[in-house]
Amino acid sequence: MKVPFLDLKAQYETIKDEVSQAIQEVLDKTAFAGGPFVAQFEKEFADFCKVPHAIGVGSGTDALWLALLALGVGPGDEVITVPDTFIATAEAITYCGARPVFVDVEEATYNMDPSKLEAAITAKTKAMIPVHLFGQMADMDPIMGIARKHKLFVVEDASQTHGAEYKGRIAGSIGDAGCFSFYPGKNLGAYGEAGAVVTSNADLDKKIRMLRDHGQAKKYYHDLIGWNARMDGLQGAILSVKLRYLPAWNEARRRNAKLYNEMLGKVDGVVIPQESPQNKHVYHIYAIRVQNRDSLISALAGKDIHCGIHYPIPLHLQEAYKVLGLGKGSFPVAEKVAAEFVSLPMFAELFEEQIARVAGEVKAFISTPV
Ligand SMILES: Cc1ncc(COP(=O)(O)O)c(C=O)c1O
Repeated sequence: MKVPFLDLKAQYETIKDEVSQAIQEVLDKTAFAGGPFVAQFEKEFADFCKVPHAIGVGSGTDALWLALLALGVGPGDEVITVPDTFIATAEAITYCGARPVFVDVEEATYNMDPSKLEAAITAKTKAMIPVHLFGQMADMDPIMGIARKHKLFVVEDASQTHGAEYKGRIAGSIGDAGCFSFYPGKNLGAYGEAGAVVTSNADLDKKIRMLRDHGQAKKYYHDLIGWNARMDGLQGAILSVKLRYLPAWNEARRRNAKLYNEMLGKVDGVVIPQESPQNKHVYHIYAIRVQNRDSLISALAGKDIHCGIHYPIPLHLQEAYKVLGLGKGSFPVAEKVAAEFVSLPMFAELFEEQIARVAGEVKAFISTPV
């Protein structure tokens, strides 16, 4: 029995007719770039996140970049984030002309460690980007408290947490802006590239809307220098269909995570994910930690069980960010966990037998003497 890391086809099969109909409607209306299907999705996604505004953009990377630009982040500024994330978080900072400054993560949740935050703040700090890694939100109360005390903006990178909650509040709704990726493999994934910014700030909403469309609010009247970062109509229509299923898919991921937890929780040498009591984790990624992860991944691949690593190299050790001059040992927790992560197969449509097979093979590998 093969166990893929992710099976987008299995999910597509369950919504095929609705997706075909949605695509046909876009074709019939030739509403390809922005337009009514994007506007409809924006309304639905804002409601879902319990905020007044959502702006559909071309990708999660665009969402982060435009949110920072709209908040006035620019050359000479510093923006604090974490090293254990996808590179887009830092790229967005760099593409504003600002400098990413990293703080270490908590070993229990892999998210920004609020106790390390104040030491990273300087006179140049303008904003922070807590990343809600793997489907669990960062500890937002202390993060917001520190940000407000120092008059800093907070942009949540909620790319991996569609529908996750922290103390009953939805991911993306707590900071000045929340940024989402709809990359196909995400909990809410488009059938191509797409992203969104959500916010409660009407001025920010207006500015991001302009920035994503060449700085215009009225056609050919360009008040700002913007960019083309519009969401395309097909993605808007497809995302509207998929958003209706997201709560059930998130519940299925939580059920699958619970099964993995029951099967692997007591295995010596395996660290399972910890859901903190204040959070509702949506398990975009189910990452365990083990000492000899490369051998485990190869052994599982040999049994047709396919895993991933999110992410093998923390950003401060990436070639692209060598310029920051941060060597090994700069962020010990981030480096330690990045060397131990193994992302097990996780998607809503996984069968219990597949989960049992993965867990059984992990156990067998861990208990075999080397
Ligand atoms: C944490 C995080 N931030 C940003 C992004 C960038 O999103 P996109 O690939 O849609 O540009 C992703 C997804 O790839 C992500 O996981």
